[in-house]
Parts: sequence; structure tokens; C-alpha cells
Amino acid sequence: MDIQVHGAEPSPEERAAVDRLLGAASSGWEGGGRDIARDGRSAQGGRAAREQRELLLPALHAVQDSVGWVSEGALNYICQRLTVPPADAWGVVTFYHLFATEPRPLNVVHVCDDLACRLRGAETLCAELEVELGPAGEAKRAGDGTWLRSPCLGLCERAPAALVVHAGPVRETASFGPVGQALTLARALEGDTTELLTAPAARLAALRRSVPQAGSPGLKLLSRVGAVDPASLDAYRDAGGYRALERAIALGPAGVIAELTASQLVGRGGAAFPAGRKWEAVARAAETTRYVICNADESEPGTFKDRVLLEEDPFAIVEAMTIAGFACGAEEGFVYLRGEYPQAEVRLRQAIAAARAARLLGNDVDGADFRFDIEIRRGAGAYICGEETALFESIEGKRGEPRSKPPFPVEVGLFGKPTLVNNVETLANVPWIVLEGGAAFRATGTAESSGTKLFCLSGEVNRPGLYEVPFGATLGDLLALGGGVTGGRELLAVLLGGAAGSFVGPDRLSLPLTFEGTRAAGTTLGSGVVLVYSAAADLGDALVRIAEFFRHESCGQCVPCRVGTVRQLELLQRLRRQTPLGDRAQEMALFAELAQAMRDASICGLGQTASAAVASALALFDPFTANPSR
Ligand SMILES: Cc1cc2nc3c(=O)[nH]c(=O)nc-3n(C[C@H](O)[C@H](O)[C@H](O)COP(=O)(O)O)c2cc1C
Ligand code: SF4
Ligand code: FES
Repeated sequence: MDIQVHGAEPSPEERAAVDRLLGAASSGWEGGGRDIARDGRSAQGGRAAREQRELLLPALHAVQDSVGWVSEGALNYICQRLTVPPADAWGVVTFYHLFATEPRPLNVVHVCDDLACRLRGAETLCAELEVELGPAGEAKRAGDGTWLRSPCLGLCERAPAALVVHAGPVRETASFGPVGQALTLARALEGDTTELLTAPAARLAALRRSVPQAGSPGLKLLSRVGAVDPASLDAYRDAGGYRALERAIALGPAGVIAELTASQLVGRGGAAFPAGRKWEAVARAAETTRYVICNADESEPGTFKDRVLLEEDPFAIVEAMTIAGFACGAEEGFVYLRGEYPQAEVRLRQAIAAARAARLLGNDVDGADFRFDIEIRRGAGAYICGEETALFESIEGKRGEPRSKPPFPVEVGLFGKPTLVNNVETLANVPWIVLEGGAAFRATGTAESSGTKLFCLSGEVNRPGLYEVPFGATLGDLLALGGGVTGGRELLAVLLGGAAGSFVGPDRLSLPLTFEGTRAAGTTLGSGVVLVYSAAADLGDALVRIAEFFRHESCGQCVPCRVGTVRQLELLQRLRRQTPLGDRAQEMALFAELAQAMRDASICGLGQTASAAVASALALFDPFTANPSR
């Protein structure tokens, strides 16, 4: 079926950007078919490419990277090439926050104004930028860059954080100290990136700040971070890399799954599902086309662990996915990577290319007669796409709307096939387990939480950063590692697990940071967020921000969440303005009703947890009347 699209035409640049991805229309439309077009190894061409709806997001990225936004003409051209109805494609492009459908300058600074950054001057930075560059979204002069507010960028340990996007090949992350940030960002917009984290020395210094434990003995997940060149396969191998794949091949698929099951590793993406059971279910599926997905969407406010692993130890993730492909009988893997992680993307692409060149990916992996390869798919700024079924929809080129479960992904996943989805940190544990054995892994941690855990410590703490501790360490231990509350202030609360998690008070310092410990205390580890608020913090502001986040990120598919997140925000705004509907008790009753409806009747975890953090805070404090001056 051909789609005839009338109306706006693409510009030559837009056409060229699409053709670079899909193959030139004139030469490739009828020939070829899909040659594995992973990571730009070869162009997509031929009729097969035209029918490949799954290339919609890569095509939109190609256009936006090239010219800064997606025009009607560009969208028309993509629709023609991929045989997607324009109305359908419009629904997709407008779903993802990173895609612009109005003209936008090539260079954009995305400034985080989310939870950790607002505790460290994000609003001041935004005010300075307004003076320096004009209002958000506007360019001072034609041809200038602009700046935009953004939800958490996954750089919380460097708060206040910003992401500088130079449309075209250069995309850089940046973070700054408290002085001169606006000017530095303004210079970066004009192409002067000397003050960004590009120089090796600056990167190393930033890494030491992000991972204060780097180089310490006894680390498992972070052992290579800061010690082994993440761009070098040789360095990875010298540090023991790829020995786990060799052992996996010697053990055979069933042996690998047995070790994983014995390790009692559970998923680190938030749901804490036993990894061995998931791998086994995929390996046993009747359908023989299977997929492995590394969930690297990491958009939970306050979370940055997966970014650090991908940037600093990318070969470990590639090796782990290869072992997963071998054990589960999958030939294709996808990394679904947050659109806001350019450095991780560079490192992963390098690692995948190096592994292919060394025959550690491809048709005959490590001479062991099995085939496995990995493709990177970039997200485009939609938190919901971290939910595994929304992630499938996104890779398939659709709006990221979660599917109803069951059927579960291990039975019906990506493209309707059995699919293994694991979080980056979950996968990062795999090589160690295969090499040292499940029993050795289980020797660290507690009865129900084996191994070590990465925690993203941010907010009002002296040494924010990524920390690895054995399960069993307490909240107080972790805060001590981070040097305590900034300026020796009194601790007010800690947000555990991110926006979908919950607040705990200072009486919880002895809480063991384990799955069972947090469950018993009515809280959650979630994605490993530990966000610290001092008594000087404005918790009411944080609650309104959390509610804004959920209203913004709800996919809108089901009523309890679509309406509930709006009503929750309105309610909190009323409380903050001290203008309750009726009296405060009535507002609290309304909140309880809303929270219950969202919890009980939402399709997915977003709606089910959208009120959790707010409810936990309201149970602990009165953040709206305790500090009426704010
Ligand atoms: C709204 C929402 C967002 C999620 N975001 C992520 C994410 O960014 N990364 C992730 O690994 N899991 C995320 N998850 C959990 C995934 O659905 C899934 O459980 C996980 O990727 C499985 O991997 P694991 O078993 O290794 O944890 C999210 C879940 C929900 C409901
Ligand atoms: S709960 Fe929210 S995010 Fe999840 S499917 Fe429903 S509307 Fe979408
Ligand atoms: S980068 Fe700002 S809150 Fe995470």
C-alpha cells in the first residue's frame, strides 16, 4: 500500500536526513530489503524499509537532529517513505516531548527544574537565563539558540544540570557550579563548548564528583568506573571483560539460567522481579523469534545510575546482553536509551562497533555458532516509555501507551514475540554472576536482597553522587557516605524511589535499604533514588513539582490517571496558595479519594503510583501550612 501525501514538501536537508537513514528514494525504494541497519552500519532501503513502521522514531530523530524540528513537509515525506498515515504519525510526533513541531533553533539548552535541581538553584539559573537569552523557547535574535525547562535530565548529582543540544552531530551534556552558569550556557549555545565537559581532564574530574567511590576496593558494579577506559575493548578485556561470555558458552543456556536463579538477583528497574525466572520463561517460550531489551530509559526524577554505567562501563552491558541472548535463544537485542543521554549513546555505539569488529557480536559470536546483535533505539522524552510495554510500542514506532498485562512480555512482547526486558543495572550484575557463580553473589546482601545496590544520592547532601553498597546498609549509612546534610542542617525528609516512591522522616535513618526492609516500612527502593531535604527546604514546592511531573507524563490513555493527575495538581496548588475548596479536611478527603481511584483503576504503574509520594509526605508533615511564608 502506498500512502499519497499532499501538501507541504520537505526541504532538501530534511529529505537528505531521511534518505541517509532509509536509503535514497530514487535508488532504494524497490531494491534491497532490510539489511541489518543497526547503528548506521548500513542504510535501510527498498520496499521493506517503506513498510517498516518501527523506523518512525529514528526517522523523526534524523530530521530533528539535522534541522532542529520536524516540519509538516518532513513529516509528510517520512509518512510516504514508511507508509504511515499522516494523522497517525502526527499523533506520534506530538507524543514525545523532545520532538518540536514548531520551528526551533538548532541549538537548545534544556535546563532541569526538577526535584534535585530546584534544591540547588535551578530557579535562579532559569531567571538568569531569561535575562541572558530571553524567555524560554524564544530566540533573542533570528539564528540564536534558545533554552527550555526540562524534567530531570538524569544528571542530578551535578545539579543544577543542563543539556546542551547542538542539532547536527554535536550533542553535549553540561553541568556547572553555582557561578556564571547562564553565561557559560549562552556561550555554549553559540557553539563555544570549551567550558562543557568535553576535555578529558574535565570529564575525569566530573566523574570523580559523580562517583565518589570510584577506584575503591570491594566494588562490584562500579569496579571499572574511573579505572578502565570505557572506549577501549582491549582495556575492558584486560580488566577481565568477556571472560563471563566464555564461561556462559561453557555452561550452556540452562547452566547460565541456573546460576542466575541461584543468585536470587531481582530486577533493579523498580519492580524487583526475579531475573532468573524471567530469563527462563523467555528461554522456554514456544515461539523461537525472541528479543532481549535493555531498558535504559531511566527517567524517574532523581535517577542517574544507568547513565553512569552506560557512559563508564558500556562493554559490560553489551556483554551482559550477549549472554542474555545466548541463554534465552534471542538473536536480536535493543537498547532503549533515553533521548537525553548523548554521551551514553556515543559510548554504547563505540562499544557495539568494537564488539562487532572483534566478532563478539554478529553471526558467529566468539566462534560459538550463535548469532546476536544489538540495535540502539533513542527515546524522545517520554517518561512512560520506561514502562516495558510502552517501550515496545515506542520501538514499534507508536505512541508510548502501555499495553494491558497479561499477556506478559515474556510471552507477547516486542513485535508480538517473547521478550526479555531488563534494567541496565540488573544486566550489569550478570557478568559477575556468570563468572563467580550465583552462590557467591548471594553471599553478599540479605536473605531477600542479594548482592549490592546502586543508590543515586542527591539534593541537600554534601557529596551527592552514585554509591554502591551491599544490601543491608541503612539509610543513615548512605547519608554518612555522602557526607551528611549540606551545611550540617537538620534533616527534614528523604524521598526514596523517586517521584513514584515515598518520603520518609529523619526517624528512619536505621531503615535497611533492602527490598524487604523498605516494603516492611511501607516505602520502596524504586530505582534507587535517595533525595535529601533539609529543614530549610520547601517541601510544598516539591510536592507541587511531583504532581506537575505526573500530569505532564501521563500518557492519557486511561481516565483515572489522565483526570486524576490533573485534579491532584490542582488540589495541591490550592493548598499551596492557601485557598482550599471548602476546608482543609475536605481537600484531604478529596485527595484520599483521588489517590485511591488512581491506585485501583489505572492501567499501569504510573497512575498507580502518581499519588504515593504526595500521600507519604502529607502523612508525615503539613508542608503547606508549616511554612506559610513560602
Ligand atoms: C511508569 C514506569 C516507568 C518505568 N521506567 C523504567 C525505567 O526507566 N527503567 C527501567 O529499567 N524500568 C522502568 N520501569 C519498569 C519496567 O516496566 C520493567 O519492570 C523493568 O524494565 C524490568 O527490568 P528489571 O526486571 O531488570 O527491573 C518503569 C515502570 C513504570 C510503570
Ligand atoms: S495509568 Fe496513566 S500512564 Fe499508565 S496507561 Fe493509564 S493514563 Fe497512561
Ligand atoms: S537532573 Fe535535575 S533533578 Fe535530575
